[in-house]
Amino acid sequence: MDFDVKDEGLAAEGKRRIEWADRDMPVLRAIRERFEKEKPLKGIKMSACLHITAETANLARTLQAGGAELVLCASNPLSTQDDVAASLATDYGIPVFAIRGEDTDTYYRHIQSALAHGPQVTMDDGADLVSAIHTDRTDLIPSILGSMEETTTGVIRLRAMEKDGALRIPVVAVNDADTKHLFDNRYGTGQSTVDGIIRATDILLAGKTIVAAGYGWCGRGFAMRARGMGANVIVTEVDPLRALEAVMDGYRVMSMERAAAEGDLFCTLTGDVNVLSEKHFLAMKDGAILCNSGHFNVEIDLKALKGISKEVREGVREFVDAYVLRNGRTVYLVGEGRLVNLAAAEGHPACVMDMSFAVQALASEYVARGETRLEPKVYNVPDEIDKAVARLKLESMGVNIDTLTDEQTRYLSSWTSGTT
Ligand SMILES: NC(=O)c1ccc[n+]([C@@H]2O[C@H](COP(=O)([O-])OP(=O)(O)OC[C@H]3O[C@@H](n4cnc5c(N)ncnc54)[C@H](O)[C@@H]3O)[C@@H](O)[C@H]2O)c1
Repeated sequence: MDFDVKDEGLAAEGKRRIEWADRDMPVLRAIRERFEKEKPLKGIKMSACLHITAETANLARTLQAGGAELVLCASNPLSTQDDVAASLATDYGIPVFAIRGEDTDTYYRHIQSALAHGPQVTMDDGADLVSAIHTDRTDLIPSILGSMEETTTGVIRLRAMEKDGALRIPVVAVNDADTKHLFDNRYGTGQSTVDGIIRATDILLAGKTIVAAGYGWCGRGFAMRARGMGANVIVTEVDPLRALEAVMDGYRVMSMERAAAEGDLFCTLTGDVNVLSEKHFLAMKDGAILCNSGHFNVEIDLKALKGISKEVREGVREFVDAYVLRNGRTVYLVGEGRLVNLAAAEGHPACVMDMSFAVQALASEYVARGETRLEPKVYNVPDEIDKAVARLKLESMGVNIDTLTDEQTRYLSSWTSGTT
């Protein structure tokens, strides 16, 4: 078997890590048990370009249990866990082409190695694999049944390809599943952002005034958890409905211009650019802490921050830089303005990845089954898959819910019954 990992000797540690993650991935486990019996992916060649982590390893084991012939490569040169890659290749017989810190040439060579497998189903996290198929390996297109996309950035790229008429294979936007958003963006980001802030700064959240910029999926999760730790949370928004929701949820809502002078800690979660800018920095209290949990490091205007600082003291604590402003006050920047939950903590816990990877596994089955003819478009995850994942999660938690009676089903789908 051909593979390319850093060191096969790391496999034992990788296996321990994979098994530890598996404890907290009950939904994927339940799917794996069914896949083992039913083999819905029997003989299907799959290539997956994902972060090579312990959680991904459990997805790979699930696809393998379903009968898929799977090859993995990394979706980011820096996110590979070398011990996990070693264990996948040597303990589980899954070829992996990924080495942490690989240079760009090696990264793309590894993508080509994954494509040399001749996949019928592909999986992506950021659309690099699909993009390579469309540029270098168009010969593969006729035999590809479909692809799955894990992340927002990838879905944005693929929708742009679709709009330009450039997309030539069907894609399922796993990222857009409700079960993904609920767990990943809301509960995952909510907890891990607080975790990153605490690990980086070791501050007590209780009694602090924390400003959450953005009240979307991530912002709601973060605001809720910060309040749960005793912080007084202020929300800033640009969308009137979201802002109203924040007011009705009991938060103080105001413009960033006003919030700037009140906050002890600021966290941006908007996906927008320069949400914190020069006028805000200059209005902040001495000692204010700034961090970001949105995807790119553009939410805090770092250029302006540097421009108004007379001194920057890097590493006043691990992950924290001090900016001494020209007005004499100091503000602290966490994780260089990059995703604080990844920079200073461990990203999402396994339990969160369990949900989106369960959607990945079921979407692979859906694509491989080929019952619905899929056109070269970006599809939403079928509602049955979202519901199936939610149901499995509830079962794993021992939670039972009611089912509609026949009478209720008829009533809810009828327009003839009104006031009686
Ligand atoms: N940290 C993580 O692990 C993680 C996980 C998932 C998503 N994300 C990223 O977090 C960001 C937000 O994701 P989401 O799912 O919450 O998106 P969302 O679209 O649900 O919410 C974003 C909110 O920010 C608001 N907003 C936009 N510009 C603003 C501004 N200038 N000031 C105040 N509010 C503003 C929008 O009105 C919206 O309500 C994205 O960049 C996403 O990629 C991060």
